[in-house]
Amino acid sequence: MKFIDAELKKSGHNLRGLLNDLKRRPKDAAEELGYKVQDLESYISGIKPIPPEFIKVACEKWPVNERDFFVIKDDCPNGLKIMRSSESYKSSRIMERAGKPYYEYRDTVITSSTTFRPEWIEELCIVEDNDPENRSVQWNNGHFMHQFTYFIGDVNYYYKDENGKKCVGIMNTGDSCYITPFVPHSFTTRAGADKPGLILALTFGSSLSGDAQQELAAISNPTKASEFALDFTSSDKGAGSLVRYFRSSFSISLEELSNRTKISEKKLQDIENGSSATINELKSIALSMNINLRDILPNDVVEPVTIIQKYNEGRRWSLSKSYNVVELANSSSLPYTRSLEISVTSQKNHDDYDQNIGLHQYIYNVGNSELIINSENGKEKFYPGDSCYIKPFLKHNFRGDGKILCLRIGGKIGGDPQRELSIIGKKNSERAISESLPWFNAEGSN
Ligand SMILES: [Fe+2]
Repeated sequence: MKFIDAELKKSGHNLRGLLNDLKRRPKDAAEELGYKVQDLESYISGIKPIPPEFIKVACEKWPVNERDFFVIKDDCPNGLKIMRSSESYKSSRIMERAGKPYYEYRDTVITSSTTFRPEWIEELCIVEDNDPENRSVQWNNGHFMHQFTYFIGDVNYYYKDENGKKCVGIMNTGDSCYITPFVPHSFTTRAGADKPGLILALTFGSSLSGDAQQELAAISNPTKASEFALDFTSSDKGAGSLVRYFRSSFSISLEELSNRTKISEKKLQDIENGSSATINELKSIALSMNINLRDILPNDVVEPVTIIQKYNEGRRWSLSKSYNVVELANSSSLPYTRSLEISVTSQKNHDDYDQNIGLHQYIYNVGNSELIINSENGKEKFYPGDSCYIKPFLKHNFRGDGKILCLRIGGKIGGDPQRELSIIGKKNSERAISESLPWFNAEGSN
């Protein structure tokens, strides 16, 4: 039997899925694109790589994109990827702002499997005061990625609030913050600090980055595309704009919705404009449009654009007698994202994998001592300044006496995709992830 590379196999399954979706049997596809059916079968089975020329011809013939033929590279086959602090050190680069050194950046662990883009950043600009208007502070323009920041030392965090007003947070070791995309911000070290302040700036994409972003961009008219952004400035406006969005998407008039729900047209219009609706009214509206109530429920909380969590005020609890947890900055609008500082206090039971987390994890050793990471796939030492990525559902534990910073994200799986997969069910989910079958059997099936 020929050896089949795991990546080629995945890419073959991806091609199988693509052909299934286009309702092409391999022989149809081969004929259309001018390839031998045996070649096509060998790409699907992963025996041969898909040649670039094949992709080019396919994109000319079919309404598909080149990117549809490529699979995400798995750079972490054991479920755990570590970057040592010495490797981070080598990636150092100084960023100047206004002609002066402003930040030193170093990479920490990055994986191709999900959207973490974490950096270690030292603040080289020293400020003598805590004035948000201080002229030596150089601001960025904000960025598309969400940002969780963990502070080490005497760091000032500058940000613009909802009204564009410049603000400053006086941060110390263990404090943290969450920054909404596109909020301009900056960081400096306060004068008198023993050493330059340090942040772990963990940026990450969520549901919108990648495919959704590309689909929006394909609309090509940013004004049209931005109509997808509804009014979530208050809970009631959120519900109202969701009701209006679904109603008009389904071509249902106010009159028709009123007939179906027995709620007056006037009341429905008020709800759509942001008047508060009772839960029973929303239930009735959802039912009448054959959608779930959750689909028109707004966010319960409207949060500020930056969330600051002081270390001493964070919730604390212990877990499995091996960990003491401190909750860091989190946003209720990112329910699949959690940041925690975890003190590891157990030397025992190395083979008791007490952690099995259904989120992607970025972990940085912020303590002063080495730890051991035991996983179902092996054992690794984890030194201060090392960082690692752990895949969802890898059984593992931390042992030793030390402290880690942990940022967990759902990537693109948490939320609606997870619900969709749950409806497809465990039994079919393997096929949903990697299509191994044609959509029908030529010999028939009954
Ligand atoms: Fe940033």
